Amino acid sequence: MNTILGGIHQDKILIVDDEPEILIALTDLLDDEFVIIQASCAQEALSLLGNHPDISVIISDQRMRDMTGDVFLTEARKISDAGTILLTGYADLDTVVSALNRGAISFYAAKPWEAGSLLAMVREAAAGYRTRCELNTERALLRSLFDNLPLGLAITDTAGRITRLNALAAEAFGRPLKECIGQAETALLGDVPVETRSADNLRTVDEFPGVRRVGPDGRESWHRISRVELALPSETSAVHPVSVLIDQNVTDLIEMEKRARQADKMQAIGTLAGGIAHDFNNLLTAILGSLELVQDMQPPTDPNISRLFTNAMDAARRGAVLTQKLLDFSRPRDLARRPVDVPKLLGQMQGLLAQSVGGGGSRAVPVRLRLPDENLPQASTDPSLLEVALVNLCLNARDAQPKGGEIIISAEAMRLSPEDQRENMVVGRSGRPLPPGHYVVVSVADRGVGMTPETQARIFEPFFTTQSVGSGIGLGLPMVYGFVQRNGGDVRVSSNPGVGTSIELWLPAISKDGSQGATQPGPTETHHSHNNQRSILVVDDDPAVAAVTVGFLAKAGFRVLECHSGAKALDLVRSRPDIGLVVMDLLMPEMNGDECARRIAVLRPDLAVIFVKGFADRAILPPDARVLAKPFTREALLSGVEDLIPAK
Ligand SMILES: Nc1ncnc2c1ncn2[C@@H]1O[C@H](COP(=O)(O)OP(=O)(O)OP(=O)(O)O)[C@@H](O)[C@H]1O
Ligand SMILES: [Mg+2]
Repeated sequence: MNTILGGIHQDKILIVDDEPEILIALTDLLDDEFVIIQASCAQEALSLLGNHPDISVIISDQRMRDMTGDVFLTEARKISDAGTILLTGYADLDTVVSALNRGAISFYAAKPWEAGSLLAMVREAAAGYRTRCELNTERALLRSLFDNLPLGLAITDTAGRITRLNALAAEAFGRPLKECIGQAETALLGDVPVETRSADNLRTVDEFPGVRRVGPDGRESWHRISRVELALPSETSAVHPVSVLIDQNVTDLIEMEKRARQADKMQAIGTLAGGIAHDFNNLLTAILGSLELVQDMQPPTDPNISRLFTNAMDAARRGAVLTQKLLDFSRPRDLARRPVDVPKLLGQMQGLLAQSVGGGGSRAVPVRLRLPDENLPQASTDPSLLEVALVNLCLNARDAQPKGGEIIISAEAMRLSPEDQRENMVVGRSGRPLPPGHYVVVSVADRGVGMTPETQARIFEPFFTTQSVGSGIGLGLPMVYGFVQRNGGDVRVSSNPGVGTSIELWLPAISKDGSQGATQPGPTETHHSHNNQRSILVVDDDPAVAAVTVGFLAKAGFRVLECHSGAKALDLVRSRPDIGLVVMDLLMPEMNGDECARRIAVLRPDLAVIFVKGFADRAILPPDARVLAKPFTREALLSGVEDLIPAK
């Protein structure tokens, strides 16, 4: 509208008259306050209006050669929002009345005009123009808000009929936008609950229930629908107040709440499981060990007794696996990430895998490695958790192939480009794009029974299992998923019923330059000469567990000393130079195993320690610590010990 002169807005006034004297007189009157544009005929004025859409007021003479003033102003109104003033002689009164009635003019002044009142008229017309401009801006703003807010909005009139709505509201009603106009709100909404508020109380009620909708594609969404009643001054007596219906899609919010509730539940289970696990592990260690020892002392000759023994031991071992799973899941320990050579790790795991899924029995399935010829980058991960994850996947793959088959573990390098991320490419189940960069992808594939889409959708839910009661608890994949997520990667699943399943773990790789110096030294195998130091010191605060450990070692031909506290262990190390190895519980009252080991290292730096670990976190130990998980079998204990000190 306006030119700025010394910081003041100046409205533009167009004066149209074919008499130059009038043009001059009007300009003289107005040019102190306004910017004046002159036109000497109606046609010229119309083309000027085209070039100056911001003209605020048009003052036109009625009698002009090419067009009368009222006709010109009617035309001008079509292309401009400017206020219009008609200058007339007394004879033109009828024309003025008709132009006023048509809305073609805002004001008129009779010639000769009175300067003060004409000036006031121009000012008022300019103010009217400014108000119209503001109104247009507001309207455009409202329209764009209406169309672009992430809410469905529908406005109803005093008869309860929809007068306006945006595309989201039409989508929520499930009809084309045009069809909704004029409909009663209730006809479109049905009987879904709507929370009604007045415009001066817009607080949202948190507990208000959501409404579930299923779209034409079968997708489920949740909505919170509310109505705001507008107390418009002109409609105070209406039966229905004008109101805005607001449809808010709260699917993400509800999903988040669900996840938070699930997390709370899991945390409670975790606390419970963690609380009993330590004691439970000790009990199992004592049961398993005692059974093995009794069997050694007096091998049963009666096949019935032998069967019962095996039964008891199998059950105790299953109990141990279950405890371990609960612990892995409920107390996800901090990742000890370091550069890991995945093919090497897979090579080292072959024995373990063969034992867990390939070893003997009717359910045995061979495991094959498929590794690329070229060198893979190292993965940044926690090797022991990766091992647990792979064992879990292999066990699942074995269970999926009851009639036999094979498990193929492969590893390959993958790269995600910045474009992949820009396009929001999601590789796995997290639903989030992974950061661009290099990845090592380890996959476990089988040709087993496969999974239906319904099963696939639930496999990462804790305690979801399709196994029979007692065989699986449904914590294998949640552990795998939790680990990979915390590792900054993702899990991708592809599966077809009757064809098989492949589960990929995407682990961040370490770039060639990043790995320099980052590699931590692997466990250094120090072989001590223990020829004259043959005793093994067993330290455990639980005498039942200590008795089993001592029993295993003594049976294998070692000389064994036993004590039940860290302080006593230090005394023995000081006084008995014949001690060649310490097997020590990690979690003990007063002095923990790791603390005791640090003190032993001061007394006897050459003395090796094997830690026996319940659920305590391995992170508090040095990375090359030798650790035996409770409950352990005789083989596991002896193979650890014999590496360090040969039996007699
Ligand atoms: N390779 C696979 N082939 C077919 N189905 C699978 C496969 N892996 C997992 N599943 C399905 O996913 C479910 C959950 O697996 P998950 O490892 O979490 O638990 P589980 O194996 O049943 O019990 P757990 O691992 O705790 O002993 C399984 O019960 C099975 O239905
Ligand atoms: Mg499993």
